Amino acid sequence: MGRTRELGRRRAILHHPLVLMGLLVLILTSAAAWFFEYTHLLFPWPVPVHLSIPNQPLYIVPNTSTHFEEEEEEEEIPMPQIKKHVPPPRRQGGPYHDWELFRSDFEDMMTHLKIFVYPDAINGSNSFKDAFLPHRNPFDPRLGNYFSEHMFKISLLNSTLLATNPREAHFFFLPFSINALRNDPRVRSEASISEFVARYTDAMSRDYGFWNASGGSDHFYVCCHSVGRDAASRHSGLHTNAIQVTCSASYFQRLYMAHKDVALPQVWPRSSEDPITPPQARKRLVFFAGRLKNSRVRQELIAAWRNDTSMDIFSGSTPFPYEEGFRNSRYCLHVKGYEVNTARISDALHYCCIPVIISNHYDLPFANVLDWSKFSVIVNHGDIPLLKSILVSISKELYLDMFQNLLKVRKHFRWHMTPRDYDSFHMTVYQLWLKRGVHRLSFL
Ligand SMILES: *[C@@H]1O[C@H](CO)[C@@H](O)[C@H](O)[C@H]1NC(C)=O
Ligand SMILES: *[C@@H]1O[C@H](CO)[C@@H](O)[C@H](O)[C@H]1NC(C)=O
Ligand SMILES: *[C@@H]1O[C@H](CO)[C@@H](O)[C@H](O)[C@H]1NC(C)=O
Ligand SMILES: *[C@@H]1O[C@H](CO)[C@@H](O)[C@H](O)[C@H]1NC(C)=O
Ligand SMILES: *[C@@H]1O[C@H](CO)[C@@H](O)[C@H](O)[C@H]1NC(C)=O
Repeated sequence: MGRTRELGRRRAILHHPLVLMGLLVLILTSAAAWFFEYTHLLFPWPVPVHLSIPNQPLYIVPNTSTHFEEEEEEEEIPMPQIKKHVPPPRRQGGPYHDWELFRSDFEDMMTHLKIFVYPDAINGSNSFKDAFLPHRNPFDPRLGNYFSEHMFKISLLNSTLLATNPREAHFFFLPFSINALRNDPRVRSEASISEFVARYTDAMSRDYGFWNASGGSDHFYVCCHSVGRDAASRHSGLHTNAIQVTCSASYFQRLYMAHKDVALPQVWPRSSEDPITPPQARKRLVFFAGRLKNSRVRQELIAAWRNDTSMDIFSGSTPFPYEEGFRNSRYCLHVKGYEVNTARISDALHYCCIPVIISNHYDLPFANVLDWSKFSVIVNHGDIPLLKSILVSISKELYLDMFQNLLKVRKHFRWHMTPRDYDSFHMTVYQLWLKRGVHRLSFL
């Protein structure tokens, strides 16, 4: 009974005049398309309407070379007289792409940049306050790998760039610490961290007008562990718009966007200033020690060079104090582990050992300011078998030059409780400064 009524209703729908008209139109257009498509085959003369899809693109790319030539001839616009640029005498070059340009822009930043920190970093009323307040003892060796994450916050809160009035701020700092959340039993897992971070970001966008004004593109957060990579994954604005300042800066990682995010140098906490071992006192060619687990590249390195008598290459720990390796060698290897980053580059800089970077896809910190090739050697994974010939072919002159450059850049890889000019804090916020001026609506 119900079934026949259902069929009856379907038939009634088919007989509805609008449906019939629709079917008719469909049939007529198909027939017309067929006709115009094939008539030119039936009749030998050209058919004016040709409906098949042309092979050429639908738009025309102007041939710019002819375009400009024509314009010049026709309109005779006087070309501005450009003074022939005489290049300065070629110096061996410092470690900067352009020190003067950088210096003046840096000074500009020091007088103008303002960063607002959401009050949880100061207030202490949040029930997760340990994740927001600055760490009380960042030099605790157990924090080693996350030192940069904690020092960024401490430096910022002590810095002259801190905005008291958020309306004057260029950037907004979301002060959660991924490392602290990782150690909080209420959060801990990567999934809960990203959930926590998403909820916090939503809360800030509800309580203040700043997030909504820019979609979060003038907001940033800082982390120095690969667990932080996932942190933004449950908040699309945090992921696509906000700036991730991270040690794990790899072009190869989906959640790191080189044009938007910022590489943070991973620095091991070392409070003292060690005496510098001069180049001639460095008797060993190469030093490396590290775990092989999770790293095919390190395994290849060990397999190739373990027995070489001029190199100190160890899987796991060293038979002498770790620091001795950096002091006694001319070159110190940074070899990709699970991540592209480790503290070895800043360790090498600290002990004035020229870093050799074997870590493809690493978006090296401050690379738009520093010319890494002037104080380090960058070697492709695939060239591990050539490592020794690459290093011994570097002349003594060039080595000494790199050594001098290294002395100049060391200060960029140091953190201070109260930040100093050109230290890691200021170099990192300089990267933000270069990204300032996003479009935003006026604040509510
Ligand atoms: C563009 O114009 C130049 C100069 O007339 C010509 O040599 C070249 O073949 C043209 N290229 C294309 C793609 O048409
Ligand atoms: C600190 O937090 C408390 C409780 O949430 C709030 O009443 C107070 O206004 C906050 N202080 C600042 C400076 O934001
Ligand atoms: C600021 O600097 C002082 C010393 O320079 C230090 O004691 C303090 O812990 C630093 N950090 C903060 C967040 O105040
Ligand atoms: C920002 O946008 C969100 C989502 O659209 C909304 O819930 C929130 O109230 C807005 N914040 C402000 C301060 O208006
Ligand atoms: C290094 O020495 C070990 C033990 O003497 C040997 O088994 C291995 O094949 C050597 N490796 C290379 C690359 O020569």
